[in-house]
Order: sequence, then C-alpha cells, then structure tokens
Amino acid sequence: MSRRDVVRNGNSEFARAVVSGLSRRPRHIPCRFLYDRRGSELFEQICRLEEYYPTRTECALLARHAGEVAALIGKPPRLVEFGGCTPAKARYLFDAARPRAYLPVDICHEALTESVLQLARERPTLPVTPIHADFTRPFRLPAGDGPVLGFFPGSTIGNMQPAEAVRFLQRIRRLLGRDGALLVGVDLKKADERLFAAYNDASGVTSAFILNLIERINRELHGDFDPAGFAHSALYHAGRGKVEIYIISRREQIARAAGRSFRFHRGDAIHAEDSHKYSVGEFQSLARQAGLQPAAAWCDVDRLFSLHFLRPH
Ligand code: AVJ
Repeated sequence: MSRRDVVRNGNSEFARAVVSGLSRRPRHIPCRFLYDRRGSELFEQICRLEEYYPTRTECALLARHAGEVAALIGKPPRLVEFGGCTPAKARYLFDAARPRAYLPVDICHEALTESVLQLARERPTLPVTPIHADFTRPFRLPAGDGPVLGFFPGSTIGNMQPAEAVRFLQRIRRLLGRDGALLVGVDLKKADERLFAAYNDASGVTSAFILNLIERINRELHGDFDPAGFAHSALYHAGRGKVEIYIISRREQIARAAGRSFRFHRGDAIHAEDSHKYSVGEFQSLARQAGLQPAAAWCDVDRLFSLHFLRPH
C-alpha cells in the first residue's frame, strides 16, 4: 500500500465516522479522531496546564516507584508501550528497569518514526522496535527475550467503556505471556470541582482541543461548519463515574461536509469523549475480570491518580 493510499483510507475512515456519527442519535464521533496533528499538539498543551493534574501526577508516581516496578518485573524486560508515540513517560522506566528493548505501539506512523529518531540520539544503546498498529485491535509482538512489561499510561484506558476496557485488558494479557506484567495509569474518582477545572481550563485549551474536531471536518471533508457556532461542554457525572465531553450547537444551523448536510438545533450535542474515573478497588476488579492480578497500586498523597502493576494469573 502506498503512502497516498494510507492517507486516502485514513481520510475515508474519518469521513465514514463523521457521516454515520452525525446521522445517528445521539450524535457521536469516536474520540480517537480528536488526535490529528493539530489535536495532538493541543493535547500536549493540555498536559502542561495547571488545571490538568493527571500528567504531572503520573510522572511523579513513575519517578517515585520506577525502582519498585523494576523489582516486581525482576529481569530486564521488553518494554511495550501502547500509544508510545511520545516516549516522555517511558523514560522514567529506562534507567530503573533497564529494558532490553523498547517497543512503542502506535497507529500514527509519523509520530512513531519521530520518536524512534529522537531515542536513537538520546539512548543510542537502547534497541527500539516501533510497531505500527492500532493497539485496540489484535496485533502480534515480534519474538524476543525477557519478560514483556506492558505500559499504558495517561489514563487512556478511561476513554474506553468499562466492558471495552475488560476486553482490551484480556487481549493485552495474552501478549504478556506467563512472566510478563502490565503497568497502567488510571485517573481516580474525586471532587467534582477538581474534575470540572481539569476539563474546562481557564485558558480555553481543552475547548480548542475538542472544537478542533469541527475544524478537522472542515479541513479534511470539505466542510463548511462554523467553529464559532459550537461550544464544548465537559461535565463530571458522579453516578456514571465519568466526565462526558460534548460539542454543543450554539444555534439553529445547517452545515455541510463529505457531500452531506447536517442540521442542528440550538443545544444539540455531539458526544466527543468519555473519560472514566475509577477508585483503586474498582479498577482492580476490572483487571481481575480480565484475568490480571493486581500486584501493586500506587497513588499520590492527594489521591488524584493511580498506577497499577498487574500480572496474568
Ligand atoms: C486521553 C484520557 C488522557 O480523558 O483526560 C484531556 C483526554 N480530553 N482533556 C483525558 C482529554 C480532554 C485525556 N486522555
């Protein structure tokens, strides 16, 4: 398949998701489409926001507990990161766990290549094997020595519905083999105000990140959506245990994209993302359902974020 085909297929996948997603009720576009080049840039800005506590809290947990992770896995592992296009967090494990190899798995070919080149400069002795795959679908690891240490940071698992997360963990478990383990970062349930602030930052970066989906529709699908005609809404539903993020039409409007017309009334919502929050116990029971045994769980003193070390059983 040529690069042109890849681009064209990628684009038609987005077109299908937008056309079917805006035609169904409730409207919904899968959150992976938030991450085009611009969306990924905006997400990196989110990670540096004062209000967005997950990134710095998880990094502090990794820095503090990397030695324990190394001791639990025992031998130098093959470190497999799901979504490893920016190895920023895996770096915390390199010195402590001394991996034999680093295998980032990512759907974005460009981002993978960049991270491989960067690591080759920074860590010339660390063998890096990029795996170009959608990690939410079945894929294989190349053969190699050492236990597999899976690494899934960022509470990205929170974007999956709980049943989907169990199926995902079941598949990961099979990749790990008998002596492998999984280190996963999970955002914790907490006071509404804290979560509201994290997804409604004062400088408007989260809003720009979510509304970039509208701009992406215009850029890639010949759309004529008016970005100013939409607003982002992010609310924590304690009973559902998740932040729900929507794009809301601010007025009555008709917008075109991918050769179709879409009508919106004022207040009509497009569901753009769910971000599930778990207590330590809730996530551990999810892991057990997937055949993974919690061996350790670490939290910061404010109990904002958790890191789980899980083993197949
Ligand atoms: C992709 C799970 C890390 O849900 O916190 C951040 C995405 N969306 N702000 C999250 C996100 C809006 C993020 N994760």
